[in-house]
Amino acid sequence: MLEIRNVSKSFGGLRVLENLTLTIEEGKVSSLIGPNGAGKTTLFNVITGTVPLDDGEVIFMGTGITRMPTYRICRLGVARTYQRRNLFLNLTVHENVMAGTFKDATSLKSKREKVEEILDFLGLSDKAQAVVSRLPPLDMKLVELGRAMATSPKLILLDELIGGLLSSETEAICEVIETLRAKKYTIFQIGHEMRPIMRTSDHVFVLDRGCTIAEGSPDDIRRNKLVHDVYLEAGGDY
Ligand SMILES: Nc1ncnc2c1ncn2[C@@H]1O[C@H](COP(=O)(O)OP(=O)(O)OP(=O)(O)O)[C@@H](O)[C@H]1O
Ligand SMILES: [Mg+2]
Repeated sequence: MLEIRNVSKSFGGLRVLENLTLTIEEGKVSSLIGPNGAGKTTLFNVITGTVPLDDGEVIFMGTGITRMPTYRICRLGVARTYQRRNLFLNLTVHENVMAGTFKDATSLKSKREKVEEILDFLGLSDKAQAVVSRLPPLDMKLVELGRAMATSPKLILLDELIGGLLSSETEAICEVIETLRAKKYTIFQIGHEMRPIMRTSDHVFVLDRGCTIAEGSPDDIRRNKLVHDVYLEAGGDY
């Protein structure tokens, strides 16, 4: 579904992505893990067109999306959530998710119905009229996911949706991802916490200093000595 071909990106003298090539399969949950600063978020920014790449190509469902504006990439079917919260804090949960329906050429009524279905799926119906700034962190993450879902995406990029939460909240997020996985959504997620990432993934890529150092099933990655060493060296949770 998504092909990253020989992508490189530098910020000034800092080479963040180094001739990176990887493929995301349709209907699977693929995950990108790696130490802080490895270039994970930069890759999502390159895919969604918010950061221009230096070299290489990004191909989504056979269409080259390299240097395409972000709104067009979204219209083609790529949605994302952000590592750093990126919501309309003064608007309600319903209004935030409604923002994701911007590309639908349908009536207001059917947009509202779509939002209500998503809120129901995410367990946010009771909080539909709550102002987002007052929500706990888990609900804010769910609202970001809801807004992404409201764009009717073919591919959803989740930047540390799993991460920075209490263990019961991480469990709740994992359950949502597992339900989407069972529904054959195509997800590409970034994460740090090994156990929840491994549990929810079909395929895992490990990024270190802008290059993939390993890829495979969660079991392959768990057994990979190089991955283990990179994580221990970075002081990560493995
Ligand atoms: N817009 C930017 N301008 C300059 N430097 C940047 C920019 N975006 C990222 N970087 C730098 O690129 C490197 C990779 O950052 P990136 O956010 O992609 O890492 P990451 O793998 O997502 O890390 P983390 O796990 O901490 O989220 C870092 O050194 C970061 O400071
Ligand atoms: Mg990041």
